[in-house]
Amino acid sequence: MSTEKRSIAIAITGASGALYATRTMAALMEQGCHLELVISDYGRRLLRDELGEQAAVDKLLGYLEAKYGAGVRNGSYTLYSNKDLGAKIASGSQDCEAMAIVPCSMKTLAGIAHGLSRNLVERAADVMLKERRRLVIVPRETPMSLPQLKNMVLCAEAGAMMLPAMPAFYQMPKTLDDLADFMAGKVLAALGFRHQLYPGWEG
Ligand SMILES: Cc1cc2nc3c(=O)[nH]c(=O)nc-3n(C[C@H](O)[C@H](O)[C@H](O)COP(=O)(O)O)c2cc1C
Repeated sequence: MSTEKRSIAIAITGASGALYATRTMAALMEQGCHLELVISDYGRRLLRDELGEQAAVDKLLGYLEAKYGAGVRNGSYTLYSNKDLGAKIASGSQDCEAMAIVPCSMKTLAGIAHGLSRNLVERAADVMLKERRRLVIVPRETPMSLPQLKNMVLCAEAGAMMLPAMPAFYQMPKTLDDLADFMAGKVLAALGFRHQLYPGWEG
């Protein structure tokens, strides 16, 4: 059996819900993944605004370990500049098997829907679509305009899974972390991972 780490691209953009991103990262790293990580300028701002200075990009690994435990060290990540259109994940010839954009702003959603590839997040997403690999988009906005709704349809038609940041309440969440666990679990399942972030529904 191959001992190589599974390579998954994670993008964090400037939509509310930084906690969903950190929980998703930690859960994938606990499972031994190597993450190809891109964070937009507004994604960087959201990490600090919503989670505090300790979650700033240059301290992110320490934040993940302090919050989610040493298990995150099973995995690793490489951080790319969103301006670097020559980065590994900008090409279809790399071995990154899937990508999740969590959370995904309406701006980035629009760029993917229209194949703009203006930055690394959009280009890497475009690569996933053209190579027919898994692309999971976690949009967050409310209410939504007609162009935003149409952009979701365009992405779904192109093969992306639209997985809106809509945590459920039937698992009786008590904390924000419970809600983040639910969303991260949905993302992991969509990427093809088993997980125990929320109990399976048993009727
Ligand atoms: C505090 C804050 C919260 C925001 N929340 C959202 C949001 O939930 N959804 C959204 O589409 N945009 C949101 N925005 C606006 C985006 O960050 C903005 O459109 C930005 O240009 C997105 O760029 P990016 O996709 O490159 O990160 C928010 C901005 C700020 C400063």
